[in-house]
Amino acid sequence: MTILHIDTSINGDNSASRQLTHSLVDQLKSSQWGEQIVYRDLAANPIPHLTLDQFADTSVLDEFLAADTIVIGAPMYNFGIPSQLKAWFDRIAIAGKTFQYTENGPQGLAGGRRVIVALARGGIYSDGSPAASYEFVERYLRAAFNFIGIEPEFVLAEGLAISPEQREQSIGHALGETLRLAA
Ligand SMILES: Cc1cc2nc3c(=O)[nH]c(=O)nc-3n(C[C@H](O)[C@H](O)[C@H](O)COP(=O)(O)O)c2cc1C
Repeated sequence: MTILHIDTSINGDNSASRQLTHSLVDQLKSSQWGEQIVYRDLAANPIPHLTLDQFADTSVLDEFLAADTIVIGAPMYNFGIPSQLKAWFDRIAIAGKTFQYTENGPQGLAGGRRVIVALARGGIYSDGSPAASYEFVERYLRAAFNFIGIEPEFVLAEGLAISPEQREQSIGHALGETLRLAA
């Protein structure tokens, strides 16, 4: 079994999403014997924005297709995902490989994989909050992975910029969720 571990935060050791993805991968590793881990740090080694020529390079797609579980750190940047993560998704949403159009509409071809997203954001965007309609990280990733046949799971730490207490409480709760999800 192979876990693809992807981090995207520019915050290095101060990153909440990195803390959560590391916890998820550590737990998944210890619950299954012989897990192989492939690590991709999209902040340290960004994938260039898509160009027509780059469709010929399938290395990112092949790495994704070889994974059984994909753990992704997704900080909210300006209401959406980091552009580094969008550049990665642009390499894996490939017609004929991860989705196809049929007479009945689009069909995902990448099912059978588990995707767990660790989402971190400074403010509060949960359902019912005043800023809920500004949330495009979970909404986008849910739609994007659904499109290729995967129902992603989410671990959320939010309100991290509100106060140090709120940050500690929110990350603590999310770390607990990582244990539950990886069990
Ligand atoms: C460039 C940038 C843009 C951000 N935009 C938002 C935003 O739109 N909404 C929000 O709630 N937090 C925003 N934040 C705060 C981050 O979501 C928050 O610091 C989160 O913890 C980042 O994840 P990380 O700790 O893994 O780096 C932004 C941070 C940066 C650096």
